[in-house]
Amino acid sequence: MDFSADLIRAILDARRIVVFTGAGVSQESGIPTFRDAMTGLWETFDPGKLATPEGFAANPDLVWGWYEWRRSKVIHSQPNAGHRAIAELAGMTKNLTVVTQNVDDLHERAGSQDVIHLHGSLHKPRCSICGAAHAFADAVPIEPPEGRKIQPPACVLCHGMVRPGVVWFGEELPHAAWAKAHSAAEGCDVLLSVGTSSVVYPAAIIPLTAAQAGARVVQVNPLPTAHEEAVHDKLIGKAGEVLPTLVEVLRRELI
Ligand code: OAD
Repeated sequence: MDFSADLIRAILDARRIVVFTGAGVSQESGIPTFRDAMTGLWETFDPGKLATPEGFAANPDLVWGWYEWRRSKVIHSQPNAGHRAIAELAGMTKNLTVVTQNVDDLHERAGSQDVIHLHGSLHKPRCSICGAAHAFADAVPIEPPEGRKIQPPACVLCHGMVRPGVVWFGEELPHAAWAKAHSAAEGCDVLLSVGTSSVVYPAAIIPLTAAQAGARVVQVNPLPTAHEEAVHDKLIGKAGEVLPTLVEVLRRELI
């Protein structure tokens, strides 16, 4: 893949960079996305039953079992070349913030620091009543079969039901994460939007905010997204192929 000389210059000269990621960056680690035809989770599973407070209230064992299936899938997966390239980019540029919609920890395991999680984390469940954090046992969980119901654990403080630590449809994003992400987007010179369909709000506002504030928006995705109008550079391809090549070109410029 060829990158324009002015894109390379813009990245190297940027005082602040935001990398905004979605499920596509973890796809090459074997974690399914949500909306890709045939393979996306929301193609097979009903988000109303599995990703809403009402769904959890109606069938907590089904919901907890589904998130345990997803959590164990992540634990048994490894960061891919795209995650690693993003971590390397942070070391080559001045000030880089990773904002992710993903609920896995693959950016952190690839070496990215202070990752802002807009949609929470599979690894940080909390009590549905008092909000206390719930600690999982350290042992690596066995991957439960898809669709197996598992009773949620009880909160050690109030005995309420523990719920997955992710943001569900109809819920607010974590305030501190949103505030940090929004201000990073407003203050960046370059925003790389990687592996997101840009259809879920308010997260999808992040690249638009950056574009409105004058940043150069670069998209890494094999397919078009919902906000092509905000994109200056379309790098068409998989994150695990495009990003390592980009990092290699930047590295050669720095020598
Ligand atoms: P989607 O499933 O909506 O979009 C995934 C995007 O990744 C698509 O644009 C794909 O073309 C692209 N893609 C697939 N493979 C890729 C690869 N190897 N490299 C780069 N891009 C690739 O996922 P998100 O945009 O992350 O919300 O979805 C946003 C939110 O919707 C998620 O955070 C989740 C879901 O409901 C919550 O969990 C709250």
